[in-house]
Amino acid sequence: MAIRYENGSLMVEQVPVEKIASEHGTPIYVYSQAGIFENLRAWSTAFEDRQPLFCFALKANDNLEILKLISQRGFGADVVSGGELFIARKAGIPSDKIVFAGVGKRAEEIEHALNEKIRAFNVESRQELELIQSIARRIDLPAPIHIRVNPDIDARSHPYISTGLSTNKFGVQAEQAIDLIKLAASLSHIDFKGIHVHIGSQVTDISPFEATSRWLKEMYSLLKEHGITISTFDLGGGLGVDYHNVTEASHDCDEKKERIPNVREYAEAVIGPLRHLPVDFVFEPGRSIIANTAVLIVSVLYTKQNDSKKFVIVDGGMNDLIRPSLYQAYHHILPVSSPDRDEKERVDVVGPICETSDFFARDRLMPVVMPGEHLAIFSVGAYGYSLSSNYNGRPRSAEALVDGSNFRVIRRAETYEDLLNLYDSV
Ligand code: LLP
Repeated sequence: MAIRYENGSLMVEQVPVEKIASEHGTPIYVYSQAGIFENLRAWSTAFEDRQPLFCFALKANDNLEILKLISQRGFGADVVSGGELFIARKAGIPSDKIVFAGVGKRAEEIEHALNEKIRAFNVESRQELELIQSIARRIDLPAPIHIRVNPDIDARSHPYISTGLSTNKFGVQAEQAIDLIKLAASLSHIDFKGIHVHIGSQVTDISPFEATSRWLKEMYSLLKEHGITISTFDLGGGLGVDYHNVTEASHDCDEKKERIPNVREYAEAVIGPLRHLPVDFVFEPGRSIIANTAVLIVSVLYTKQNDSKKFVIVDGGMNDLIRPSLYQAYHHILPVSSPDRDEKERVDVVGPICETSDFFARDRLMPVVMPGEHLAIFSVGAYGYSLSSNYNGRPRSAEALVDGSNFRVIRRAETYEDLLNLYDSV
């Protein structure tokens, strides 16, 4: 395990987390390079016989230095904006490994992506298709596309991150897809390649993925009857991770034993029904590559008892990590040093932001902690920093990357001056 306790001290690879926190202050995100490489390898080996294209979903983490590592291992990018496309290219990700999704692509973003000659647009509506055609025709560049189809399959994840139901804004209804694909095939500058699906995120049950692949197999046959051949299936991302069992020992805190499918099981389930089709595969994993490779280190500022509640107030807030506030997401939290303590208590771990929703844990059984101590919030590599903000006038935290016994800051902490950056022309 790249992130683990050794003699009561939290280590990221060979570096004690206390050392990073004392040298660079808190809050700080700390990533493990070995952890990232291990996850990338798991994806590559699970699909070895099909050699798909893996497009890392930048929305999970868009740190330039991390993207460079991901790119070095042959991964491409799933982007959802011109900004993400810009960052992916800066990180050295080749254009022909970039797919572009999103229900609201602007004309400038489409032109930008056409000029970059990306691998494919994941088209989400008829109007978008028509706009892509008209821009591609004007600048006379081909537009490779997948049509994002909404399979109306329940991913059984949090409702905010389920995307594959007919009531969600994503993709086109299956009933409309055939007409749209026929239209795409008839347009001069559109090069129809295949179908894109993404049913949701933090999906921890394999059966919705399996059902999606079975559904795609039917779509393949149906389209064939209409004289249309699919050369690519882009199966999106969504594989969940275990947010509960993050250290070898439970340290007697609240933990849940839930078995999360691994990448190999996922690969078998999704490829299974499609195994004999002559198609290329694209996958867009985000969370499963990066979530468990990082911890967010915060310092305890104060503790206090209000009525029946004990609060542990830390120096990181929902502006640094919004997942608990937004999705009631669970992140394991332990002291960086000596996590095994005789004294335990039930607390809310909260930040300094002026919102009641600013919490990292509620009614959590934890070791008793004191002001000045460092706490580690686990599994924050995905949708952690990328969802951070300056809310309440708070500069964003730093990010550090550990490689063996070395570490370096891969994005510095913002300063107050950074809060003034955008006023230069005012
Ligand atoms: N592809 C598409 C089209 C997506 O919309 C997403 C995630 C992914 C790939 C990557 O999914 P993953 O492998 O990471 O599950 N902020 C939320 C998650 C939002 C996911 C949005 N789409 C969270 O913190 O849980």
